[in-house]
Amino acid sequence: MQAKIQKIVVLGTGGTIAGESNSADEGLSYKAAQRGIEVLLKAVAGSSQKLPPSLANVNFEVEQVAQLDSKDMDFATWRVLAQRCEFWLAQTEVVAVVITHGTDTLEETAFFLSQVLSREKPIVLTCAMRPANFKDADGPQNLRDALNVSAQVKGAGVWLVAAGEIHHSQFVQKVHPTRLNAFDSGEVGAAGKVSQDQIFWAETFNASAILPSISKQVLNAADLPKADEWPWVEIVMNHVQASFKQVDLLVNAGVQGLVVAGTGNGSIGTALKEGLLKAQRAGVRIRIASRCAQGPVLPTEGHIFKVDGGLNAVKTRVAMLLEIMSQRQSH
Ligand code: SIN
Repeated sequence: MQAKIQKIVVLGTGGTIAGESNSADEGLSYKAAQRGIEVLLKAVAGSSQKLPPSLANVNFEVEQVAQLDSKDMDFATWRVLAQRCEFWLAQTEVVAVVITHGTDTLEETAFFLSQVLSREKPIVLTCAMRPANFKDADGPQNLRDALNVSAQVKGAGVWLVAAGEIHHSQFVQKVHPTRLNAFDSGEVGAAGKVSQDQIFWAETFNASAILPSISKQVLNAADLPKADEWPWVEIVMNHVQASFKQVDLLVNAGVQGLVVAGTGNGSIGTALKEGLLKAQRAGVRIRIASRCAQGPVLPTEGHIFKVDGGLNAVKTRVAMLLEIMSQRQSH
């Protein structure tokens, strides 16, 4: 009996993985988001390529959802991306969705998708640090590994595969501006590695044990409002002589939520704290994260504002955006 054909859908959103530079030796000055997803996929799964065994009975479908440098990722694109993921994952023959994305805001998109998708199938994001026409471009190997992982990882979850590492969307963040392995999952570590088409899951990685509960989710992709109806949430940082003035300006301009990238275990200087308390009295939501590169903020009695356990500042902002929108909807 012939094995059932399964489908993996590859969604393109742009990034350096789709970028081009003027010369094959130029890896820093280039234009992101130049090559279409069909071209990127053909480079790794074209007729002449020998694919990993996990992809032997897999057909591919591509869709160009966006074509942008991820520094310009926006709510409108997130909404469409989430809805396209939901659409494809609802098809019985689709086993996974792979997304090509710029590295700069990848962790935000990955975390966002993890909060709004309800299907019990995986999403794997991948990216590159070098443009597609660079002499040692990393994109093709990353895409090949992402396809391979997506065919083997079971159940729901949003993952990043890059530089031979598998990271969970909850923990991963970009930690280096230029090196090839630019991502890290801090103390939790990578969920696994991919080498020569073999996947090695880290024995110590146990996402279900480590994940902090994010109880306020979940808005489903279908319920996401149009981009101009999303709330306004900003991030402010504590630093030497952090002023309350930026908070006052934001509150007067109508901000609805503020995430504080606090110092150390989420501490906030006296002047900034006064400004935030005033903002809270005016109805602005406040959350604490840390500006430290690694490690969760551990809530203590000294925290007068809420802490979203384990999330960095940009993901705390995503959680707050979704919290505000889901509460709006339930009223
Ligand atoms: C981007 O994030 O789109 C550009 C940078 C990159 O992909 O590395």
